[in-house]
Order: sequence, then structure tokens, then C-alpha cells
Amino acid sequence: MKKFKDKKTLPKVEEAPLIIDIEFIETEDDHSIANIDTYEEIETTKSINPIHLPKSLATPKGRARIVTVINQKGGVGKTTTVINIAAQLALRGFNILVIDSDSQGNCATGLGVDKSKVKETTRDLILNPETAISARHATAVEKLHIIVGDKNLIGLEQEMLRQLGRERRLLEALNPLLPHYDIIFIDTPPSLGLVTINALVASDGLLIPVQTEYFALEGLALLSGTIREVRNLLNPNLGVDGVLLTMHSSTMLNQQVANEILDNFPELIVKTPIRRNIKLAEAPSHGIPIHLYDPSSTGGQDYQEITTVLARRWGLI
Ligand SMILES: Nc1ncnc2c1ncn2[C@@H]1O[C@H](COP(=O)(O)OP(=O)(O)O)[C@@H](O)[C@H]1O
Ligand SMILES: [Mg+2]
Repeated sequence: MKKFKDKKTLPKVEEAPLIIDIEFIETEDDHSIANIDTYEEIETTKSINPIHLPKSLATPKGRARIVTVINQKGGVGKTTTVINIAAQLALRGFNILVIDSDSQGNCATGLGVDKSKVKETTRDLILNPETAISARHATAVEKLHIIVGDKNLIGLEQEMLRQLGRERRLLEALNPLLPHYDIIFIDTPPSLGLVTINALVASDGLLIPVQTEYFALEGLALLSGTIREVRNLLNPNLGVDGVLLTMHSSTMLNQQVANEILDNFPELIVKTPIRRNIKLAEAPSHGIPIHLYDPSSTGGQDYQEITTVLARRWGLI
């Protein structure tokens, strides 16, 4: 495994492993997490500009908190987090609404809702705010409602470009629902497009699931820039409720990345990591959250603990 530590010794592009930054170096066989050299290199990510994530404010009295689960990276556990935290809160007696703004529509599947039978979706909600009441559906969990996302969301951003106030459509649409829920969760697609911006503009707080793998901090730097822009231009109160560690294992690589995230965001991190657990991946195929499928699994335990931490931050308990 060759390493390239300074500019002068850089090989030709086609021979080189992917280099993200002169100080942030990846070598091709970085999956060999037993190689201690790799850790020294990851260590260097710390010296790059610290990433700033603003802390969120308390929920205004008498209305739902709007919480967006976001990370522009796919497959980091956003949807799993939405489904299981939302379900766990509903099982504890809170009124919860999930809004799926991802065209994959996995929230519906994971909560036992048949997308093919749903008439109004998140697309309708954004284009036509009057549908807010009628677009909601019951789920496999009592007190947990959903507005379904589906393939009709593809192309929505193009259509929205023609609309006035296009960044605030979701915020306006959610307004009549606010008195009826404790928390409204928005699940987002793996992109920072207009639909995701709508979610950021509507939000009181963000949950950022981060997989404790190599490029975790890189992704957070990009996200923090978007949050800053939205705060400057559209939603000055936007802040972060929690950074969650997902798909965590006890390898040294996972531990090291977890520690770096802890160092960067000591106040925002939720210290209980969500362990990698096959039960979390199985539950959606049964249309139920982990707490109905296998509550005593490690995934079930982790999401229960995290829900308790967040419920305190949100002033629910
Ligand atoms: N802690 C975990 N352990 C094992 N599998 C997980 C875990 N969290 C999520 N998964 C699985 O990983 C895949 C991606 O998760 P998902 O929540 O859909 O990510 P995202 O919404 O960020 O794309 C899914 O198949 C999901 O079931
Ligand atoms: Mg998802």
C-alpha cells in the first residue's frame, strides 16, 4: 500500500488512488481496517477546518416540532432512523407524523402502508398545500401517521422551479397540521435539491445520521455549508438536534471515526451508537418497526435509548 503525503510525490492521476484533499488521503485498500497506518491518515482529517453545526432552539409552545433527518449520502440509515424513532415515540404515546420526501418511498413500506393504494402523496402536499389533511394515512403503529413519498416525486423539482416561494411550499403546507402533532419527521432523499431545501426551511431541528466510516466528516462539511446558507437566507432558526452514529461496529476504524465525530460535535452527538444489526434491515420487509418486530435486538435497544435521549432534548419528557 503506497501513500502519497505531499504534492511533489503525487503520481499520475490514472495511477493514483482517489485523493480528496492533500491532507486527506485514501489508499485503494482502505477497507483493510486492521492496518494501523490507515488510522494515522484518518487522524489528519481533524486538522482540516473544523466543521460548524449550529445548535437548534426549543420548539415554540403549542405546536409540533418539525425534525428533518438528513444526510446527502445514501444508505446511511436516514429512513431506518425516521421509521424507528417515530414509531418508538408513538408507542410511548406521542402523536407523530412522518413525511417521506424521498421518491423511493421506503417509509411507507417500513410502516406497513401499501403505496399503490395511496392517492395523495408528498408531491401533492408540496404542489397543493390544501391536501395536508387528506394526504395523511394511518400506519402499522397507532398514533403514527404518514404522508407517503413515491416515484411521483421524481420531476417535482423541475415543476417547482416555476412556482413562487418555491423554497417555502412545505413549510406552508405543514402549518395547519402543527397543532395536532408532537413531532413531524421529514425523511429526505440523498441529495441537497429543492425538496430537501424545503425540508430545511420548514425545520426546527435536524437529525444527522452518520455512518462511522471513512468519509463521514467530508459529507458533514458539505451539509454544514448548506445549513449555513439556509440559515442566512431562509430559516435563521435552523439548527441541529443530534448527530447519530449509525451502522456502528466495534472495529477500530468505526471507533476512531466515532471519536472524531465526538470531538467535533461534543454537544450535538447522541453518544449511543446504533449498532449494525440485521434485524433493523429485516423489519421493513414485514412492514413493522423494530419495536414490533424484535424489540430486544441490539437495534431495538439502541433506537429505544436514542429516542429517550432525543425526547429529552425535544422537551417531550
Ligand atoms: N443499524 C443498521 N444495521 C443494519 N442494517 C441497517 C442499519 N440501519 C439501516 N440498515 C439497512 O441499510 C440500508 C440503508 O438504510 P436506510 O435507512 O434506507 O438509509 P438511507 O435512508 O440513508 O438511504 C437499508 O437496507 C436498511 O435496512
Ligand atoms: Mg432513505
